[in-house]
Amino acid sequence: MSMRIDIITVLPELLKSPFEASILKRAIEKGLVEVHLHNLRDYASGNYKQVDDYQFGGGAGMVMMIEPIDKCISKLKAEREYDEVIYMTPDGNTLNQGMANELSLKKNLIILCGHYKGVDQRVRDMFVTREISVGDYVLSGGELAAAIVCDAVIRLLPGVLNDETSALTDTFQDNLLAAPVYTRPAEYKGMEVPKILLSGNTPEIEKWREQQSLERTQTRRPDLLM
Ligand code: ADE
Repeated sequence: MSMRIDIITVLPELLKSPFEASILKRAIEKGLVEVHLHNLRDYASGNYKQVDDYQFGGGAGMVMMIEPIDKCISKLKAEREYDEVIYMTPDGNTLNQGMANELSLKKNLIILCGHYKGVDQRVRDMFVTREISVGDYVLSGGELAAAIVCDAVIRLLPGVLNDETSALTDTFQDNLLAAPVYTRPAEYKGMEVPKILLSGNTPEIEKWREQQSLERTQTRRPDLLM
């Protein structure tokens, strides 16, 4: 069963490259996920292909109009059922690993990228089932945020990662930060790798990693332990 993600955007160019390299590219090539980009302007009417307009009540900044978004979402929904219509917005719920895990179990997702002052509130009331922020800062549009959601979700799909890149030991996967890692050489300019990692004693190494993980979380992110 593969996942399908439809991304609605006024800037499809901005979203091409994340899916043309590395793990996401491989996931698509393996047929584990399909990602479709939809240019909102293709659903706009009139000679100017207008997708945004001044906001009622006055104030700076344009608002994305409901009609092109309705047309695009309705066309997609007529073709298949969607589990979620996600709107990327700084006032949404902040993305975390739990949310990525949850989304990775879905089959069909629509992701709507906001721009300017955002979308007409009626779009959110009528179509959107989930609003996601990637953090407490404002991006110039939802595209890069959508790419982050896609990356976090797609790498969790069965078959995307191999043993080497397994998601099980990731930071956050059990609400702990990952332990420090080292590779060759064992000594570099006088800096040594912790002896335990060279001992070959797997149970002791595991114990050390767990302890490091806990210490790191306590000092850097005590909020995760609460
Ligand atoms: N669009 C603009 N800023 C954003 C953010 N922080 N998260 C999600 N979408 C956004």
